[in-house]
Amino acid sequence: MGEVIAVLSGKGGTGKTSVCAGLGTALAQMGKQVLCIDCDVGLRNLDIALGISQLGALSFWEVCRGEYSPEQAARHPVYPNLRFLTAPMDCPADSIDPVAFSAMLRQARNQFHYILLDAPAGIDAGFRLAAGSADRILLVTGADPAAIRDAAQASEKLELMGKQNIRLIVNRISRKMAAAMDLTVDDIMDQAGLPLLGLVPEDPDVVLAAAFRQPLLGYTGKGAAAACKRIAKRILGWKVPVRL
Ligand SMILES: Nc1ncnc2c1ncn2[C@@H]1O[C@H](COP(=O)(O)OP(=O)(O)OP(=O)(O)O)[C@@H](O)[C@H]1O
Ligand SMILES: [Mg+2]
Repeated sequence: MGEVIAVLSGKGGTGKTSVCAGLGTALAQMGKQVLCIDCDVGLRNLDIALGISQLGALSFWEVCRGEYSPEQAARHPVYPNLRFLTAPMDCPADSIDPVAFSAMLRQARNQFHYILLDAPAGIDAGFRLAAGSADRILLVTGADPAAIRDAAQASEKLELMGKQNIRLIVNRISRKMAAAMDLTVDDIMDQAGLPLLGLVPEDPDVVLAAAFRQPLLGYTGKGAAAACKRIAKRILGWKVPVRL
């Protein structure tokens, strides 16, 4: 039975889409059957981070409506066991029936080891849709106090929804920044009130890989790509030390 992992944040632009693509490709490289779903209705861009064309890609809404099955999702050209469903453009998040969405994920759980949901920014309809059916939640934040507070607030909202199994990923962190802020991993966990799943460094290759329409892990094996691989191993239950 597959696991549904929602990649969320309170604040926009923290790196949800980049991290979701990095984890999806890392899990696929490790031989898992993976389905990545862009839940950012209206502002979709997971295809770019995955280095895949959204032209002709099925949307999750077409699968929710029962016209297709999840295993008909677009296949990644480089990672054949990674599939992708784009977000519908003409259907606001609050008009998507959460029951149909959950039913689609139930079906996908039988066909994939991991289903990764790239959520939109904010804590409204898209956030609730992605969080609602997730078995595990990854909150992606920056290292600055405002971003960590937003993550803490998002986590409170998730707890009110009855969600458990919430972990923090701190993105775009650098040793220099952590040293200047006198910030330790324990400080971050204390401020957010959440256990940490991993740190992803600030890395210009994230932007460059997207600019060249390549998946980050196909573009480089260092920096943020290596961090995503370490986090993916932790998702698989391996003991991998947290480091920058
Ligand atoms: N570790 C990183 N190092 C450098 N740049 C990064 C890193 N992570 C993300 N970025 C860049 O930051 C920008 C925002 O990233 P991304 O789109 O993944 O965020 P998001 O949380 O999905 O945004 P939104 O809330 O709009 O959906 C992108 O230009 C991306 O390339
Ligand atoms: Mg995004």
